[in-house]
Amino acid sequence: MKTDSTSLHGMWSSKIAFILATTGSAVGLGNIWRFPYITAENGGGAFVLMYLVCVMSVGLPLMLAEIIIGRRGRRSPINTLRLLADEMGAHRAWALIGWSGLLVGFMVLSFYSVIAGWTLSYAFEYFVTLFSGASTLGDPGSVFSDLTSDPWRLTFWHTLFLALTAGVVALGVEQGLERGVKILMPLLFALLLVLVGYGMTTGHFGEAVEFLFKPDWRRVADGRVWLNAMGQAFFSLSLGMAAIMAYGAYLPRTIPAGSTAFTVGLADTGVALVAGLAIFPIAFTYSLDTGAGGVGFTFTTLPHAFDAMAFGHLYAVAFFLLLSVAAWTSGISLLEPPVAYLVERAGLSRPKAVLLLAAGVWVLGLGTVLSFNVWAHIKLWNLNIQELLEYASSNLLLPLGGMATAIFAGWILSRADSREELSDLPPWAYGLWRVMVRWVAPGVVFLVLLGVTGVL
Ligand code: PHE
Repeated sequence: MKTDSTSLHGMWSSKIAFILATTGSAVGLGNIWRFPYITAENGGGAFVLMYLVCVMSVGLPLMLAEIIIGRRGRRSPINTLRLLADEMGAHRAWALIGWSGLLVGFMVLSFYSVIAGWTLSYAFEYFVTLFSGASTLGDPGSVFSDLTSDPWRLTFWHTLFLALTAGVVALGVEQGLERGVKILMPLLFALLLVLVGYGMTTGHFGEAVEFLFKPDWRRVADGRVWLNAMGQAFFSLSLGMAAIMAYGAYLPRTIPAGSTAFTVGLADTGVALVAGLAIFPIAFTYSLDTGAGGVGFTFTTLPHAFDAMAFGHLYAVAFFLLLSVAAWTSGISLLEPPVAYLVERAGLSRPKAVLLLAAGVWVLGLGTVLSFNVWAHIKLWNLNIQELLEYASSNLLLPLGGMATAIFAGWILSRADSREELSDLPPWAYGLWRVMVRWVAPGVVFLVLLGVTGVL
């Protein structure tokens, strides 16, 4: 087929730009807020092992699949899928993957923005202590509940975060992202490593390592733990909602897709594990309930260390600011696919499309804001609004979207097409990838979903 060499929305300037943008999408709150608390709730080691299995068997092959589908189509995910389905003589219903991606992106960004707001708020609070001379923000548990019980404060920071995200998307993603990610993300990683170093001095590092890496084999048979692990792999790698597909559309054909996907997957998983090694020793040192986890785990754990460390508050400001940047580069990738679609479809200018969508996300985000206070009692299947959005997206919609994407890449896209896109891979690696997207990835998702329904 004839393939476009450029996209209407701009192109990445280099291989490193694409790696940075995609790593920017993958590394975010998912690694530093979500991974630790879900790990705690699922009992540690066995969960971490399942998570790694899912990253390798489903995540990496799927990341490649999304990149090459996007690059083949060069449009927003919905139009890309429609175009490729037409060319392959397949049904246009495959574009539903793109539609579900838009929906999930919308859902995820709405709560993501509120949690990212917490990081901005913490950065601000610690900044204030630098001048007031206060030695602590207060008891970490109460500080967290004071913040989450105040809908106005939550809304303020949610609005600020969303505005920052919308700003970059309005400019066109390749402009704003490259600079931010190149310098700030490695810095965040360095700060995490220092926290790991701090953890080593607490005397509870071994306990944390054991908790994270020594599987409790009885849990391996638990279907729900598998589902949570798979959901976390999808969420953390930004897969299953066509975000990476949207970024793939801006990837020049001269840049090899195979090695880039591998680098991004490795970076994302590495950051999650290091975040675990940074946070759990602190949790054990202060006898926090690691079994309970809870959505505020990272935010109620780290302040213990920041209060105890030399220059801890200065450090905290840097840490929460950098975490906000990591969240920001992920938020951008959540907003980009729907914006690209609206620009193509309705002929809207980029800023107009951004304004429209961000307004919708903002309103939906109020549901999350209120789920921590005024609407805390509103529950469905025992989950409040925020939990419902998070659970439905990461444990159900992302895996389903991912399964469909893998099937599309393996069975609908012709072998010649995918081979051409993956020409950087040696024959054995290409063959392996094809088996993975055709059989293994859809199979794993199917089995995990089946397992949790109790059929297995
Ligand atoms: N991967 C991001 C994180 O871990 C979140 C995200 C999910 C971004 C899905 C885009 C798409 O923070």
